[in-house]
Amino acid sequence: MNTNRNRMSGIRFTLVVALVFLGCFTAHKSNAQDGEQLFQQCKACHTIGQGKLLGPDLLDVSKRRDKVWLKNFIKSSQTMIKAGDAEAVALFEEFNKLPMMDYNLSDPELEAIIKYIDSFSKADSEGEEVSATTSDSLAAVEAVNYLASIDTEENRKKGKELFEGKRKFNNGGASCISCHHVNTSDAVQGGLLAKDLTKSFSRNGGLSGIKGIIEFPPFPAMKDAYQHAALTEDESMKLQVFLMHADEENAVSESSISELIKQGLLGVLILLVIISLVWFKRKKRSVNYQIIKRQRR
Ligand code: HEC
Ligand code: HEC
Repeated sequence: MNTNRNRMSGIRFTLVVALVFLGCFTAHKSNAQDGEQLFQQCKACHTIGQGKLLGPDLLDVSKRRDKVWLKNFIKSSQTMIKAGDAEAVALFEEFNKLPMMDYNLSDPELEAIIKYIDSFSKADSEGEEVSATTSDSLAAVEAVNYLASIDTEENRKKGKELFEGKRKFNNGGASCISCHHVNTSDAVQGGLLAKDLTKSFSRNGGLSGIKGIIEFPPFPAMKDAYQHAALTEDESMKLQVFLMHADEENAVSESSISELIKQGLLGVLILLVIISLVWFKRKKRSVNYQIIKRQRR
């Protein structure tokens, strides 16, 4: 059943791609191809129908948003956010205030990207939920397998060495520690120029989020540092594993802090019980004493 459906949507997908292709041929300008190519630079943060990464899933985005809005957002989302556009601000808040960089694209290029994104919604409009859930669970299985394959002590150690600059990057980029600090049991003090990355893993949506930031930094200072010294995928992966473990390690220490607080509270409670017992006894005695006194009279 599932494979049948997959095959069907696969066939449908190829059909649509073929149609779009044909359409472009007649339209002189190969828009769809441009759109697909242009979309490569968005892939670090967006999927079309595979769930959210650093940014939202763009499937059906044209149904959610006005076209002019979309174009303006892609060109300069920060301009819209600073101007107080309600939808843009809400989205920015939802995505942990992670800025999307500006894209200096021409109007035909923007059209092409939007057309490319839209081509996915048409292909999936029938049986949308079914294909979404099967692709979701497939993606989940893949993610688990992938994680198991990279999550080794070796990778964590090398990631830490890369982070701290004890191991050099292939293309000579600056070590992360020159700007960032990470808390681990054996951490060296890092730079304070940029955010503490101890909890960056959970803050930015896990592996894929960190991967997006490392490989396509959306922050000007960080982008400049790696513009001519991009990290390799292997280096990026090791850094992801390191940051994942730093995050986990810190979760442990946070829970031991809450243990301490609980024990402290328990102590206070026991004290309160002892005090109130003493207090009750005192009260009882005084009541008894008064009754006896009354009866004596
Ligand atoms: C570094 C990550 C990153 C890259 C690369 C990126 N985006 Fe985004 N995008 C985001 C984030 C994060 C948001 C959510 C809004 C925010 O936080 O500013 C977003 C939001 C959007 C939205 C609005 C979605 C909605 O639901 O309304 C569109 C459209 C969009 N991006 C298109 C693009 C396109 C097209 C490209 C490539 C040319 C691109 N993005 C590249 C991170 C990115
Ligand atoms: C030149 C300084 C600089 C260097 C070097 C640098 N970064 Fe950054 N990084 C920044 C800035 C600036 C930000 C934006 C957040 C902020 O204002 O602190 C940032 C943000 C991040 C974030 C998102 C923070 C969060 O949780 O919100 C991650 C993850 C990150 N950097 C990872 C790295 C890694 C991994 C390296 C090493 C490959 C690295 N950075 C090297 C400057 C730098």
